[in-house]
Amino acid sequence: MWTNDSPGTGLTSEKTLFGTMPDGSKVDEYTLANAHQMKVSILSYGGILQSIVVPDKRGKLADVSLGFDRLEDYLQPNPYFGAIVGRFANRIAKGRFALDGKPYQIPINDGPNALHGGPEGFDKKLWEARPVTGANWVGVELTYLSPDGEMGFPGNLRVTVRYTLHEDDRLQIHYSAVTDKDTVVNLTNHTYFNLAGAGSGTVLEQVAQINADRFTPVDSSLIPTGEVQPVQGTPLDFTAPMPIGAHIQANDRQLKYAEPKQGGYDFNWLLNHRGDLEALAVRVADPESGRTIEMHTTEPGVQFYSGNFLTGTLKGKQGLTYAHWGGFTLEAQHYPDSPNQPHFPSTVLSPGEAYSQTTVYKFRAN
Ligand code: BGC
Repeated sequence: MWTNDSPGTGLTSEKTLFGTMPDGSKVDEYTLANAHQMKVSILSYGGILQSIVVPDKRGKLADVSLGFDRLEDYLQPNPYFGAIVGRFANRIAKGRFALDGKPYQIPINDGPNALHGGPEGFDKKLWEARPVTGANWVGVELTYLSPDGEMGFPGNLRVTVRYTLHEDDRLQIHYSAVTDKDTVVNLTNHTYFNLAGAGSGTVLEQVAQINADRFTPVDSSLIPTGEVQPVQGTPLDFTAPMPIGAHIQANDRQLKYAEPKQGGYDFNWLLNHRGDLEALAVRVADPESGRTIEMHTTEPGVQFYSGNFLTGTLKGKQGLTYAHWGGFTLEAQHYPDSPNQPHFPSTVLSPGEAYSQTTVYKFRAN
């Protein structure tokens, strides 16, 4: 355990052993805390954000992120709880794309498509980890070298992800990467949030606002059709605050594509202030506990996913189960299938360039 060197900030950071991989490698857990009782844990396996404990308006603490207590559970198939996803977050149609005239094939793992970088993505890698500190923050820096050809992607990609917890209740994730060959990169974090507390039920009454006038409609396999459509007049219109559950079961083709039985959200919204880290991207508030999360990002889009494939069967932290719609993700990202959609913002990274993305999750209770 060590404390931040600037006195009085109340920031602390601690490294403990979380578990051991089947090959004997150790998985560390970094726990970062601030003076406002906010406490987050990050694992060197998958860069997983394992817990986010925040107070509510009465000062009552709850862990608002879904996940597991034990490494063994993270090693089993699970829906990317808290993980860093890459090399390419979200879907690539049929796992295929061409770059500099050469075809590439990513192994498919989601119906006909490749999802989140293929079956062995960054969420399943053991990252190098080291503590970092600053004047008003504590953090952990994770690095991973993805070799040329891993999951079919070209180029050795050196990736750094820095999680920092700040005095003012911001949890910031900064991603950077460099390559030695042209490649495609789209990195994000896949935390499922439930502001009432993970495992406390659905998020349908939590109120979301997404600062986006448009979205990329999808086909039945959740690949963008290539069009960009206004959200106005659709159940995707969160430009004004609206409970997540207000229209989730509307008779709408997009919602049915996302979840054929009961409907759900699983789409890419085009943020209005794309690139501007100062502008609000998304806010979600839980009226009951008063907990609020605000997301800011340098990315042009966000995948807002309402936990449609949670089934209430996986046993999560403290033995709690996660209901259908029991968590939402805010995956700051470039648009899905960008490598096949030349009119979408480019996800190509070339040697000599630096990939950089910053996303901030700010917590409040009021
Ligand atoms: C996707 C969902 C998928 C989930 C977990 C999300 O990013 O958009 O369709 O079910 O990840 O795999």
